[in-house]
Amino acid sequence: MRPAAQQPPWPDEDELERVLKQISTLPPLVFAGEARSLTSALGAVAEGRAFLLQAGDCAESFAEFSADAIRDKLKIILQMAVVLTYGAGVPVVKVGRMAGQFAKPRTSSTEIVGGVELDTFRGHMVNDDAPYAEARVPDPTRLVAAYHQSASTLNLLRAFTKGGFADLSQAHIWNQQFVASSEEGRRYEQIATEIDRALRFMEACGIDLAREQSLHQVDFYTSHEALILGYEEALTRRDSLTGDFYDCSAHMLWAGERSRQVDGAHVEFLAGIRNPLGCKIGPSTTPEEVLATCERLNPDRVPGRLTLIARMGAGRVSEALPPLLEAVRDSGHIVAWACDPMHGNTFVTNGGHKTRRFDDILGELRGFFDAHHRAGTWPGGVHVELTGDDVTECLGGFGDIVEDQLHERYTTACDPRLNARQSIDLAFRIAELLRD
Ligand code: PEP
Ligand code: CO
Repeated sequence: MRPAAQQPPWPDEDELERVLKQISTLPPLVFAGEARSLTSALGAVAEGRAFLLQAGDCAESFAEFSADAIRDKLKIILQMAVVLTYGAGVPVVKVGRMAGQFAKPRTSSTEIVGGVELDTFRGHMVNDDAPYAEARVPDPTRLVAAYHQSASTLNLLRAFTKGGFADLSQAHIWNQQFVASSEEGRRYEQIATEIDRALRFMEACGIDLAREQSLHQVDFYTSHEALILGYEEALTRRDSLTGDFYDCSAHMLWAGERSRQVDGAHVEFLAGIRNPLGCKIGPSTTPEEVLATCERLNPDRVPGRLTLIARMGAGRVSEALPPLLEAVRDSGHIVAWACDPMHGNTFVTNGGHKTRRFDDILGELRGFFDAHHRAGTWPGGVHVELTGDDVTECLGGFGDIVEDQLHERYTTACDPRLNARQSIDLAFRIAELLRD
């Protein structure tokens, strides 16, 4: 057994075993064929023919679990996808950090809250975020609760994306009131109006729009960090069609910056499943490590199997990313490259709020696109933390949120997220980068 980083200190191993056994008897959340479809969609990303939009909460919450919250997050992702598709003319592969993103890696295993040292919050599938000692004790029954919340979330996502809500003729309706009245909301409205016009034009030309599935439905996939290995193993099943193993907790799984050790247990687990995989790549990553990761996770060089998610920080991307792009390019490995402009740009304000500057997020994206341009490789996608709500967690953007405002609507269970307006603003900026 290889060393597994970031596993919670479960107080009762017997109870954990009992719970995992129970989970291993529950139905899979996704089917192997869907995971294969995502691999082939990401294959188009790896080959420069499509763009990946991976987005959602830093940590999904047991407390904030409602149809409205799921719908509003989906709306923002659909809106961003419209802006990207329309603005840059490339197909967008849509993957949520949703329906399973419940476990968090931590830099430190304790934190000081109000002068008291507490075990850190590790995500709602492990413990509770309330600031007292008992709440922080890992509780295996939370794994079952996470499974059920994932199932309900996925059910609603499937209903929304296949049942008419994601129909392109509904593009106006995705624009929430507080967004529609803003500058970026109006820009979005213009696109939605032009799409309406294009649809009417096609109809007038005699095209039977009712028969064009792709106008009425969206392929939407789920993903999360495969952190709690017992949970992921309990949901790993053998596909009856191919005989291969798939982790049926989500379509795509990724290794985090703290769990991507090439000889570690997480990478060993991921190497053994056939789902499309992600691997976060931080600024200290060496070309040798990246190549070893490619070799370990995608030895057969299948396009779409592996997405490398660079999260360097705005100040380091220009120097840290190019050697990695060149090494992968020259090795002949085929990967999709995505930019996570969030996790290298987090800092804590004097007032104690964890935040990120919109300008740093944009700065890292520019550095990412620029590095790809120079290397002659395809800047394949973005990986962002966002919410459909009108939160005040990240600084800047059109609404220009300032430090003194952060406390007003700061509701994230972990890292600061872009709000709906900042997310749409960002989509327009990315579309511009893609066009240039
Ligand atoms: C995350 O994606 O929430 C995360 C913790 O990222 P990273 O592993 O890149 O730090
Ligand atoms: Co995060």
